[in-house]
Amino acid sequence: MQPGNRVDAVFLDRDGVINELIFHEEAGVIDSPFTIEQLRLLPRVGAAIKLLNENNIKVIVVSNQPGIAKNHFTEAILEETTDKLKEELAVVGARLDGIYYCLHHPEATNLKYLKICDCRKPKPGLILTAARDLSIDLKHSYVVGDNLSDIKAGKAAGCKTILLGKPKCELCQLMESENAKPDHIAANLYEAVQIMLANGSIRTKGGEQRMEIFLDTASLEEIKAILPWGVITGLTTNQKIFLAEKGCNFRQRVQGILSLIEGPVSVEVTSSSLDELIREAREFASWDNNKIVIKVPMFGDGRGLHAASILDKEGIKTNMTALMSTQQVWLAARAGATFASIFFNRVKDYGDDPEKVIAESRALIDRGNFKTRIIVGSIRKPEDVMQAALAGAHIVTIPYKILKQMPFHPKTEETIAEFDRAWEEFKKAEAR
Ligand code: E4P
Repeated sequence: MQPGNRVDAVFLDRDGVINELIFHEEAGVIDSPFTIEQLRLLPRVGAAIKLLNENNIKVIVVSNQPGIAKNHFTEAILEETTDKLKEELAVVGARLDGIYYCLHHPEATNLKYLKICDCRKPKPGLILTAARDLSIDLKHSYVVGDNLSDIKAGKAAGCKTILLGKPKCELCQLMESENAKPDHIAANLYEAVQIMLANGSIRTKGGEQRMEIFLDTASLEEIKAILPWGVITGLTTNQKIFLAEKGCNFRQRVQGILSLIEGPVSVEVTSSSLDELIREAREFASWDNNKIVIKVPMFGDGRGLHAASILDKEGIKTNMTALMSTQQVWLAARAGATFASIFFNRVKDYGDDPEKVIAESRALIDRGNFKTRIIVGSIRKPEDVMQAALAGAHIVTIPYKILKQMPFHPKTEETIAEFDRAWEEFKKAEAR
């Protein structure tokens, strides 16, 4: 990773980014939680924050909390809500490095908090204070928020910015007129972290970008057998994979998979007309828009690209599939595909060099700053996995029977047996 791309800290808005916004019927407003019970974490927030923690990137909450100034709740409730938030994150092994709230409001009912301050976003005060306290380099930091006020505060502080939400035309005009264009738009916090990762902006433990492993299966038994290893972060399927499970109900099986897998789950559309492809994709995505990724084949007439481009604008994630060449990957990235699947052994069967296709595709994606992540599938032996990974795949999707072989090495087995024998001898001598 280039040093210029390192990330020091990520500043997160709280409500709508970490926890759900609440519709308060009595007040007729969508606002932060007014009670401790109303605090509910959004999906995969813990996993996203944990990923930042693991990469030694500071995670700091910077949030306007005018609810006390408006007499909706008290400082004590805010404190307890914050404790609950920290506890829920701790359950999944995630932590916050700092929490900075602005309690002021220019029209406060509770006069103690009536103030035109420098910390209420869109002003950058909270971010600047945190940066001073925690020695953060703001040029190498991100602000993630669901409001343009977060983006404005981030820009004023000199950070990169990611807006959470669906891209909409009205929003584009507003961003333009308010001079609040974010660097990226993401559907949720996990996707925002993935964007940082795809941009080579994440410092991982080894100083390299984190590579992921997905499981290429639709078998619940296989998923259950591999999940405890703690190595897989997503799953891919296709029609052939489902054929191996014939007799099951497609939707029920996908739902079973979703209940087990935390990360992205690719399911393939099977229709041929554009309208039908889109209809099918929308239906699958409605089962869980956070996790479901629509596999769209790269049809030779551009139909797949057309579909991926429509779905991307609707905030539906896509995985352009059956890719055999660099030019296909590049088109997929340009069409807005979230993932691009290169079929390692099918490229080889055709007589081309899969490692070259992967390396070229990765170079184009990095150079073009595309969000698209390369999945390499069609893996037939453990060596293919390492070749794909070293060539530049972001993700390798591996069939169960191949992944099962990967921890094995004859010399390791021999070494373990030798050490076991030594231990037995030691224990015998100890007992004497
Ligand atoms: C992955 O996304 C592909 O669907 C899969 O790996 C294809 O593998 P195959 O070439 O063995 O059919």
